[in-house]
Amino acid sequence: MIEISNLHKSFGSNEILKGVNLTIPKGKVTVIIGPSGTGKTVLLRHIIGLLRPNAGKVMVDGLNISELAGAELNDFRRRFGMLFQNAALFDSMNVYDNIAFPLIEGYRGRKLPNIPKIVAEKLKLVGLQGIEKKLPSELSGGMRKRVGLARAIALEPAIILYDEPTTGLDPVMTLAIDNLILSMQQELNVTSVVISHDIDSAFRIGDQIAMIHGGRIIECAEPKEFRNTTNPIVAEFLTAGQQKVNRHGG
Ligand SMILES: Nc1ncnc2c1ncn2[C@@H]1O[C@H](COP(=O)(O)OP(=O)(O)O)[C@@H](O)[C@H]1O
Ligand SMILES: [Mg+2]
Repeated sequence: MIEISNLHKSFGSNEILKGVNLTIPKGKVTVIIGPSGTGKTVLLRHIIGLLRPNAGKVMVDGLNISELAGAELNDFRRRFGMLFQNAALFDSMNVYDNIAFPLIEGYRGRKLPNIPKIVAEKLKLVGLQGIEKKLPSELSGGMRKRVGLARAIALEPAIILYDEPTTGLDPVMTLAIDNLILSMQQELNVTSVVISHDIDSAFRIGDQIAMIHGGRIIECAEPKEFRNTTNPIVAEFLTAGQQKVNRHGG
């Protein structure tokens, strides 16, 4: 469904992506792991057409994203739900308005659907019924992520992109978000791409795990195979992740 080929991206003389190749299958969870600053967010932004590559392309259902612009690109983006790294809710708007926002935008010029009903449904899906009137400042970090997710799925996207959905959350909330990602995939049959630097999370939710390093995908495999990697860089990253867990008593 998503085919990334030979993707190159530089900012000035800083070359971040040096020929990324990755196939993201439909209806599955693909987790992309790697140390911070390696270009995971940059890669995700190419998938949704927020950044343009210097070379290479991203194909989604046979459409070359890098060649879309204007209304075409906007239409295309509607297939995606994106949960940004810091869940970026509008602080001055309550939960209802935050989730209604993409609906009102998405239906501009057309007959609006029953927005209160959709907002209530999406909140129920993320386990937060009845909090429409609350302001983001009244919510915990985990709740804000879940509201961000409710907003991301408001337009029923076929593909959901998650940028570090569990960073900064405690283990209990991390597990809750992981389960939510799985239930989105199971109940809505979406294709999910999850950026993470949490190894445990990656193994819990991934149908396929890819590791980015040095501007390229250096390993991409099903979890079992990934764990038995023969690539020393991947093995070291996995070991380091495990030690971190042990140190924290997890
Ligand atoms: N819009 C931009 N302009 C210039 N440099 C950028 C931009 N976006 C990202 N970078 C640089 O690209 C590198 C990778 O960033 P990023 O994709 O955010 O890493 P991460 O893997 O932690 O998500 C960083 O060095 C960052 O400074
Ligand atoms: Mg990032």
